Amino acid sequence: MDQPVLEMKNICKAFNGVTVLDKVDFSLRKGEVHALMGGNGAGKSTLMKILTGIYAADSGEILVEGKPVSIKNIDDAKKHNISMIFQEFSLIPTLTVSQNIFLTRETRTSLVLLNDKESEKKTEKLLKELGVDIKPSDIVQNLGVGYWQMTEIAKALSQEAKILIMDEPTSSLTKTETEVLFNIINKLKEKGYSIIYISHRMDEIFQICDRITILRDGKYVTTETCSETDLETVIQHIVGREFDKAFEWQERPYSTDVPPIFEVKNLNVGNRLKDINLSIQPGEIVGIAGLMGSGRTELFRCLFGIDPIDSGDIYVEGKKRKIKSPKDAIEAGISLIPEDRRMQGLILQHSVKDNMILPILSKLKNGLFIDNKKLNEISKQLVNKLKIKTDNIFKTSGLLSGGNQQKIVLAKWLATDPTVLLLDEPTIGVDIGAKTEIIEVIREMAESGKAILVVSSELPELLAMSDRVVVMHEGKIKKEMKRKEIKSEEELEYAIQGF
Ligand SMILES: Nc1ncnc2c1ncn2[C@@H]1O[C@H](COP(=O)(O)OP(=O)(O)OP(=O)(O)O)[C@@H](O)[C@H]1O
Ligand SMILES: [Mg+2]
Repeated sequence: MDQPVLEMKNICKAFNGVTVLDKVDFSLRKGEVHALMGGNGAGKSTLMKILTGIYAADSGEILVEGKPVSIKNIDDAKKHNISMIFQEFSLIPTLTVSQNIFLTRETRTSLVLLNDKESEKKTEKLLKELGVDIKPSDIVQNLGVGYWQMTEIAKALSQEAKILIMDEPTSSLTKTETEVLFNIINKLKEKGYSIIYISHRMDEIFQICDRITILRDGKYVTTETCSETDLETVIQHIVGREFDKAFEWQERPYSTDVPPIFEVKNLNVGNRLKDINLSIQPGEIVGIAGLMGSGRTELFRCLFGIDPIDSGDIYVEGKKRKIKSPKDAIEAGISLIPEDRRMQGLILQHSVKDNMILPILSKLKNGLFIDNKKLNEISKQLVNKLKIKTDNIFKTSGLLSGGNQQKIVLAKWLATDPTVLLLDEPTIGVDIGAKTEIIEVIREMAESGKAILVVSSELPELLAMSDRVVVMHEGKIKKEMKRKEIKSEEELEYAIQGF
């Protein structure tokens, strides 16, 4: 058997006395794509932060090519050819692709003027190797998010990385961008690079990974070979118990003989949204499907008063409402859970509680007096309901795992008890168990008579939640289907792609 390129042995880590990694082992072969999986808060990102020198392990060993190494910072990691592909955050948007790639090492002709010719040549070669269709002179901010990531990968390769870490790389990518990324990953694999791949999307894992290591509650569970295992086994290892087949749809009754609780009539916005009409019954969940750029997020932004509309009317509980700002929307009983929750929905420096109670604070204020006991009570209930993994409600939100941060934002808007709830990609970044819980919470909300509109690119989830699905394409509603008439995921996929 080949010598592993990387081994992590007996890694332990605690934060303030709370153990988050407990004797974890991990081993990576040359030229493999190795998935690291586990529930939200299982310790995946922490293990990778130890590997890249962002955190120090309390104990344990790291071996590169069989030799013990000490990784105290990101430069040490680079020295051992280990590189983390950050999502978009480490690039400077106003610089070109090649300036970003050679940012720290370019031959400087002056402090601000970079010697672009040389680096552009090198960049061109790298991009060609990766088969990425962008120019070294392209300004990063003019490129789609997918290409930011390609730039990150090119940057890592230019620094001679042999081991690449990708932590949920596809969470902000479109389907096509994801395909491009997978092509690149396959190329890298052929060239002998090793990749550690973190994702909660099961279909991806089985599509591109060779092996899977699973962590649960900070402990190593098992390493499986993809071709010799199956989805159910993996899910069981992740959640640690028998798991009913996820995402079963069941027909739910809701009242059809009463007036609609939410209506959108002839809504138009430039050429981005054209003649949108929607009518939702109390208790009904309507799923919105469509490709990236089909207008789904735009529709939500307009309904929530972030972007202005040109024409059209919005009715909540039969009453026409003018919605010119999010404040108007909230007053009308509309809440939006945005797609980009980490950026838009959360103040990372604030505690779990402070984030959750923000939108209801004014409601609970009685003069100058704030009922702190009640706020604590509400926060604790929400933490329990959504099974948010935190030591207590006073923990700084930024210290929670990615998926648990997502859940805080969800909790925050649930607390407002809206009449109309708009959810943009509610299950992205959360683990398989939490996805089921979130679907359950959404159903419960509907059952109490709300109108729910949900955008999701994850079709199994969309099909599990919706009573009706509308398909958007180029800013229009092109098709509407009752859930019970949709026979399979393929049928919906076909409807989405079929225009
Ligand atoms: N700096 C820190 N201080 C305190 N606790 C932390 C810190 N960093 C991480 N944790 C805790 O460690 C645990 C593991 O977090 P980690 O981010 O590694 O999870 P994860 O497996 O990446 O989850 P997700 O799938 O949600 O991203 C969590 O309970 C988190 O709150
Ligand atoms: Mg994580």
